[in-house]
Amino acid sequence: MTRSGQASPFPTIDDAILTNKRVLVRVDLNVPMENGRITDLTRIDRVLANIREISQKGAKVIILSHLGRPKNGPEAETSLKSVAVALEHELGQMVYFASDCVGPVAKSAVSALRNGEILLLENTRFHPGETKNDPAFVNELAELGDIYVNDAFSTSHRAHASTEGIARKLPAYAGRTMQRELEMLTGMLAHPERPMAAIVGGAKVSTKLELLGNLMRKVEFLFIGGGMANTFLAASGKKIGKSLCEIQLAETARRIMADADEANCQLILPVDAVVATRFEPNASCRAVDIDSVGDDDMILDIGPRTISKLVGVLAAARTVVWNGPVGAFETPPFQTGTVAIAKVAAVLTRTKSLETIAGGGDTIAALNQASAFNDFTYVSTAGGAFLEWLEGKILPGVEALRAQKAA
Ligand code: 3PG
Ligand code: MG
Repeated sequence: MTRSGQASPFPTIDDAILTNKRVLVRVDLNVPMENGRITDLTRIDRVLANIREISQKGAKVIILSHLGRPKNGPEAETSLKSVAVALEHELGQMVYFASDCVGPVAKSAVSALRNGEILLLENTRFHPGETKNDPAFVNELAELGDIYVNDAFSTSHRAHASTEGIARKLPAYAGRTMQRELEMLTGMLAHPERPMAAIVGGAKVSTKLELLGNLMRKVEFLFIGGGMANTFLAASGKKIGKSLCEIQLAETARRIMADADEANCQLILPVDAVVATRFEPNASCRAVDIDSVGDDDMILDIGPRTISKLVGVLAAARTVVWNGPVGAFETPPFQTGTVAIAKVAAVLTRTKSLETIAGGGDTIAALNQASAFNDFTYVSTAGGAFLEWLEGKILPGVEALRAQKAA
């Protein structure tokens, strides 16, 4: 059952007989790495329960994932070998590793598996057929399993062999992580508690035009922060000094503001800002009214009056969806606005007066910085897929599952 009480529109592992089956499970182990070390385990931790459940039901679990964007075949930096070690550690169960995801190496590793055992195959993107969704490569992958489970919502915006092609080849089901993600995301956007607010931040408007266009038709309040707010401020005739700005989009920004008005969506821009003349850690900075930004100033965060205004919006809203930090949060002290908003949203969620949903790599980092991650109603680990979902786009990986249910 979904959050709205209807039967799930896609098949889930409740619909599958798993015992004794070779189950190909697509997960997203595209984890952040620095010098060969994994810096954040969130994506690994999210998929553990689904892997355990399939293993405990007596299946042979064959895990597929990509890592990074390798272009020319196998390379050490994007090998999943070290991820297999981390996965084994987090699972507390042995994870076998095969150095190729298709061909004789993969086949013999799969045939050695006993029921309940777990095998991780090497990076699917080491083969060009993966991103090309090449039918021959899809067949090679499909040969390895009896059943396909997609547990990687965060890659479902890609029509790749391991996310889309194979779902049309084998009996396909949504894994638990995918199931929960779809239920939360569709439930919260399709049947939100109102009023609903959106907070959209990040550096560039150009990457978020479709997102803003779709959101303004769904929400009562749309706050725009971060670097992208500067384009809107400049388009409204404000002086923004040396701030980041896509001035060529001024006309587009004005149209977005007019469209929001027509859609009865209150578009809210910063009323003050924290500015500095140098962008560096602990730069000397000051809060100014939005009409008093100097010629040499850069806007790097929202100011205290804007924070209060946003707190008011959050207090009035029943649902908020958040993508993108509202200031240059990686560089202190310009995390202040983002962290303050995250903390307030977390408290309101804890006290059940607000449902909060967030997604995107930077947003997750910001929520972690504010120790707010666990308080949010739902945090999507997806970046691009979360954005495309918010834009109202069809995600090929999800569509392939839905098509199975319809068939
Ligand atoms: C992500 O990190 O957003 C997903 O793993 C997809 O990765 P990609 O953008 O390289 O396709
Ligand atoms: Mg990405």
